Amino acid sequence: MSHNAKNRHEIVERNVGLLAILIVFAISLGALVEITPLIFQQQTNEPVDNLRPYTALELEGRDIYIREGCHVCHSQMIRPFRSETERYGHYSVAGESVWEHPFLWGSKRTGPDLARVGARYSDEWHRVHLIDPRELVPESNMPGFPWLAKNAVSDKHTQQKMALFRDRFGMPYTDEQIANAPKELEGKTEMDAIIAYLQSLGHAMK
Ligand code: HEC
Repeated sequence: MSHNAKNRHEIVERNVGLLAILIVFAISLGALVEITPLIFQQQTNEPVDNLRPYTALELEGRDIYIREGCHVCHSQMIRPFRSETERYGHYSVAGESVWEHPFLWGSKRTGPDLARVGARYSDEWHRVHLIDPRELVPESNMPGFPWLAKNAVSDKHTQQKMALFRDRFGMPYTDEQIANAPKELEGKTEMDAIIAYLQSLGHAMK
């Protein structure tokens, strides 16, 4: 290193303000280089082939899942490691999440990942498990959610939500699907809705 270059380095190291500015610059540049291509890559923007929008019942079930805080204990993001794919199935890909607002990937797993739990158990298994998990898994520390079986699912905002998902986020709902939403929810409980949602998880990569 020439004498001059060493001096310049010293200037930066001895000036905390300048050092901070240059660190922020370096990190921003690194972030741009990593993130910018993802914004334009088809693979991260386009839905995977078999992805379909949530039905009215599943969509309401998803909101109940959020309301009850299921996402606080369960991730929906299978990482591309052997230990994960052997347990849960194919790792999660971006194209499965393009219509997820907000996404529910999470990173904390008190319980297992649920990204591909759909069709793994029967509806009846979920019903019993959600009312009292220890009925089926004696060592479980998951809380029970017995009220879901008693509450009727509300259709108050369903059509509005579907229209919003279509117009803002590009979920391909047809007018007919939106018009039929209240009929689809008629006589259904919150338990029916959340089970329909759980059974839909991972459908695009089965
Ligand atoms: C306090 C943490 C916690 C919360 C909150 C929670 N769970 Fe769980 N969940 C667990 C644990 C721990 C297990 C593993 C033991 C068991 O199967 O009961 C589990 C297991 C499960 C399973 C079985 C997964 C599998 O692959 O075997 C499902 C499905 C599930 N939870 C759904 C839900 C839903 C839906 C909600 C919200 C209504 C919820 N959980 C809320 C902790 C939690």
